Amino acid sequence: MSTHLGARHGQIAPTVLLPGDPLRARWISETFLDNATCYTEVRGMYGFTGTWNGRLVSVQGSGMGQPSMAIYVNELFTEYDVEQVVRVGSAGALTTDVAIRDVVIASGACTDSAMNRHRFHGLDYAPVADFGLLRAAVEAAEAREDVTHHVGLIYSSDSFYNPRAAELGKPLVDHGVLAVEMEASALYTLAASYRRKALAICTISDHLVTGEETTAAEREQTFGAMVEIALAAALR
Ligand code: ADE
Repeated sequence: MSTHLGARHGQIAPTVLLPGDPLRARWISETFLDNATCYTEVRGMYGFTGTWNGRLVSVQGSGMGQPSMAIYVNELFTEYDVEQVVRVGSAGALTTDVAIRDVVIASGACTDSAMNRHRFHGLDYAPVADFGLLRAAVEAAEAREDVTHHVGLIYSSDSFYNPRAAELGKPLVDHGVLAVEMEASALYTLAASYRRKALAICTISDHLVTGEETTAAEREQTFGAMVEIALAAALR
């Protein structure tokens, strides 16, 4: 068992889907996996392993924000030999080029977090997705008529409630950044550091320009499509 995951070695699959919300992890396992079992309940941050189309896959809650996510992903990589992690999360749209309920597949992630600044001694590292996962997710998204998808940069912020978000985000938007979430940048950096694969896919749950928000039912429907894209990409 690792410090924050109550799983024995071998109980977690080489491929892990990573929603922030542990109850989403449970919903994914109940909705998409066969023969799923729960391998950890530590701190209520559930993780499940089952099969999808006969292939082993785990789903692990990560919590919100890069420090929380990094605890779980560090342990997945170092204690459980996980090879690839696909974050399935929500994001806020920063531009009217992206609409509510759209899916954003993150080719790279900017950040305001100090985590990378510390790691790279002030240099600006550019955290990017694994290209194979990225390409497979784009192909899976292109095959669906029920999903509008975008491929591009996102912004991993340390603050959900930031009264200056629009002002601070403007230079990023002016340089093509599509949406804000809170985990991808550190995820991509950790994957690079351990020579593993990572991708973040996000459903737009709220719009910082128009003020729109999705309903719970809409979030569930689009979230499901995104999970299917993630599974198809990771287990191709
Ligand atoms: N995740 C979903 N919406 C978000 C937002 N507006 N800011 C940060 N993370 C988010």
